[in-house]
Amino acid sequence: MKGLARIVGAPAGRPAAGAVRRPALTACLAAAWAIAPVAAQTTVLGKQVPARPDAPAVVQTTSVRATYIVRCAGCHGLDGAGSRVGQVPDMRQLGRFLQLEGGREFLIKVPGVMGSGLSDREVAEVTNWVLDTIAAGSVPAEHRPYDAAEVARARAHPLVDVAAARAGLLAQGRARGIAIDAEERPAARP
Ligand code: HEC
Repeated sequence: MKGLARIVGAPAGRPAAGAVRRPALTACLAAAWAIAPVAAQTTVLGKQVPARPDAPAVVQTTSVRATYIVRCAGCHGLDGAGSRVGQVPDMRQLGRFLQLEGGREFLIKVPGVMGSGLSDREVAEVTNWVLDTIAAGSVPAEHRPYDAAEVARARAHPLVDVAAARAGLLAQGRARGIAIDAEERPAARP
């Protein structure tokens, strides 16, 4: 019993010092709350500010990267590596398509892009983002970024057969020594 008293910090038979002081502290906090402005209240978890509909966002919640993560990464992966099992192509050398006739148009016409529900501007932005980041280094120097008007024009002529269009581009690449598929390159992905 004596040992326990030492642990809780009060001699046996007398109430712990904290127990005596606690009511006074509580009264003090109650008084502080009464006079504090409603904007910020001290709670057990720290300062709590009531939610306000017109409060400014502290963190930017929309970005092109976020669009990629939400709309594309589920299939293509965060790094764009795709999936052999799911037959999702590797996009890390996507810029190679831009060297092919029809390749530029193809990139914004594939169903994952055109059927994504994104606006023309968003399709242009997310494709530009992929080329600038995930596929950086594979983009020809003379490449111009996509814009909304180009996406709108491409929408008017949808791809009828994506597999055939892709096969045609791969064949064109092979004939010109441009390896499009990761499997056709010397350092194949794992
Ligand atoms: C439901 C899975 C899925 C989603 C979501 C998806 N894709 Fe795809 N993507 C594919 C598949 C599968 C292919 C291969 C062509 C095909 O079958 O459509 C592909 C092909 C592509 C290609 C052509 C690359 C090549 O080598 O043929 C591009 C560019 C592309 N996607 C971009 C995107 C972007 C950008 C988004 C997000 C806006 C996106 N995809 C969302 C599955 C997806």
